[in-house]
Amino acid sequence: MRMKKLFLIFYLVSCTLAHAQVVKNNLSINTENTCMVFSVTTDDEVIYRYYGNKLRNLDAFSYELRKNPHQPFPALYPTFGGTTSINPALKLTHGDGIMASELKFSGIRTIPVSSDVVETIIELKDKLYDINVSLHFKAYQKEDIITQYVTIKHHENKSIKIENIASGYLNLHADHYYLSHFAGAWANEMLLEEELLTHGIKSIESTKGVRTAQTENSSFLISIDKKADEYSGEVYAGALAWSGNYKLSFQVSETGNLDIVVGMNPFASSFILEPGEEIKTPEIIWSYSSIGKNRISQNFHNWSRRYALAHGNDLRPIVLNSWEGVYMNFDEKDILSLIDDAANFGVELFVLDDGWFGDKYPRDKADSGLGDWVVNKKKLPHGIGYLADYAVNKGVRFGIWIEPEMVNPRSVLAEKYPEWIVKTDKYTPYVERNQWLLDLSNPDVQHFVEETFDKVVSMSSNISYIKWDANRHANNVGSSYLPSDKQSHFWYEYTKGLYKVYEKIRAKYPDLLIQLCSSGGGRLDYGALKYHDEFWPSDNTNAVDRIYIQHGTSHFFPAIATASHISSSPNHQTGMSLPLKFRVDVAMSGRLGMELQPRDITGKEVDFVKQSIDTYKNIRPIIQHGDLFRLSSPYDSKKWASLMYVSPAKDRAVYFVYSLGYHVRNEFYCKSLKGLMPHKKYKVKELNKLNKSSCFADGKIFTGEYLMNVGIPFNISKPYESGVLLLEEVK
Ligand code: DGJ
Repeated sequence: MRMKKLFLIFYLVSCTLAHAQVVKNNLSINTENTCMVFSVTTDDEVIYRYYGNKLRNLDAFSYELRKNPHQPFPALYPTFGGTTSINPALKLTHGDGIMASELKFSGIRTIPVSSDVVETIIELKDKLYDINVSLHFKAYQKEDIITQYVTIKHHENKSIKIENIASGYLNLHADHYYLSHFAGAWANEMLLEEELLTHGIKSIESTKGVRTAQTENSSFLISIDKKADEYSGEVYAGALAWSGNYKLSFQVSETGNLDIVVGMNPFASSFILEPGEEIKTPEIIWSYSSIGKNRISQNFHNWSRRYALAHGNDLRPIVLNSWEGVYMNFDEKDILSLIDDAANFGVELFVLDDGWFGDKYPRDKADSGLGDWVVNKKKLPHGIGYLADYAVNKGVRFGIWIEPEMVNPRSVLAEKYPEWIVKTDKYTPYVERNQWLLDLSNPDVQHFVEETFDKVVSMSSNISYIKWDANRHANNVGSSYLPSDKQSHFWYEYTKGLYKVYEKIRAKYPDLLIQLCSSGGGRLDYGALKYHDEFWPSDNTNAVDRIYIQHGTSHFFPAIATASHISSSPNHQTGMSLPLKFRVDVAMSGRLGMELQPRDITGKEVDFVKQSIDTYKNIRPIIQHGDLFRLSSPYDSKKWASLMYVSPAKDRAVYFVYSLGYHVRNEFYCKSLKGLMPHKKYKVKELNKLNKSSCFADGKIFTGEYLMNVGIPFNISKPYESGVLLLEEVK
């Protein structure tokens, strides 16, 4: 009996000792209001301690505060092996077949990049093997954003096999965690779903290779103890900057901790890393707010305008895109008339969408011509230069559509380069939207895509905008370029190949405006977006659906980048009829554009649209550079949606209210506004008034204090009525 007791004591002591994590020093990554804290133990382990509100003193992290000796603090970058048994951030097989890794602290470097950005590199080294893992953090002070990526290099005798290499890891502890993520489908992207995380693993992932954001976006929010509220509560957010396969995994463990591992999807993607070679993960972009999710969105918007969007400090032109106006059925006369109409409505840029190319196989339908980037002379006898010059002479800039990663089987390109098509050698390649995918892991294909871009842009010096589309996934994947033992590198190499092309194009054409489109929002992630000026959120242009879709995108992506077009009624995708005012009011909450045949706007409506376009030019700086405040969610059963933008100087604001259902008499919309200065006085001007006024405040002056406590009641109650107010400071 005594022996048994002694053994038990010995066992408990040895367990505790084995897991002892005595802190040697603390490391932190700081922004103005937040920080991450890690500790280095006497055993040179780097452990994950904290992410949240900024802490000015880290001394207490040196105490031994762990409650459970059987649950050590997790590693900053958990590996398969060592002490942890959670879903690892890193899993690899060494050259000798050993599957475990134990990473030890080997140094830290801090590099001040600018007055706003500090880079910190934490170097880790395997205890036994010659493998270096570097964790790169960039802390954006004013934006409260921390980005993270990982690089691995080794000098083992043989190659190693990387089975999982995550971009980042977070460990949280709370009673409850709610996950908000964005699911959908083609023409129905970015729909908000919120759920309580329970024990087990919830994973959100894409294995589609291309168009990976179409059904699930790689951005998410975790709110603590309750569903994410706009203006209260703790919220963590992550957005993975990667356009290839990804996996976000959320595991609530037996102790109630939440482990979040995010990065490229390990699915069918093991990576052979040769000695001396390096692999770099995509960036994960983190943000934390203790005052609700609206602040998270503002952090992302500020950060992206400054760092992750081309020309984020400029203003975007108003666009007429030809797709829903004429689809592929047009001739030169039709395009000239669209340009005339664009000029007449005050539109600033015209985009010629799909259907302008293909010689031997003209692009009259989606089944031919893709890959043959020569103008279709039958449709456009005077070429693209003629159209672009015509537009510019009318005071309208000119843009054009391309889809350079794809090819139709009916094309000269497919006939000439069958080896460029993504396919498994022995199986017939599968067509999606009548097209195949070109193998961007192949440098020749990368070169072709660059050349295509050059060729298209050089058709006229008056081309100032490109819409880059991608309309299928990758499946039946295989590359005739990659060696047979590295076919699983395809997913990584495709996306890296795409980024190489983007990089070169951006270096060569820094001034071009480029729209990110992939059947709508199929490539909406910060990996791709940073090379673009804006994105096309969805092929669904129905204003009601756009309220939901753009509510979703607004969580991470700013209005300046959100192409939002007025389209026809009945809507081409949904068949739904909506009042013109409602369609205009919704489109104006993003980067305004038109996606219709302008000749279908007739009578009094012409003046209304012209006036609205003119109004948008005036309020554009507030929407595109201001702070967003979401006031009412369309998911709310009360059936209102509302948002406002406030200028950085807080002297101007635009306020949008949309009715999404029937509201009986005793139900009227009146919300406290946000983001104004209490002592300032603001004069209200109702915009886009058509037939009747939507509120009684037009022309009246209110203090910011009144507006932020009492609000303005709206006189709208029928489905799809709306109101837009401009508030301007009066001195
Ligand atoms: C899908 C895009 O989302 C549309 O806007 C349009 O450009 C078509 N492709 C053209 O094929």
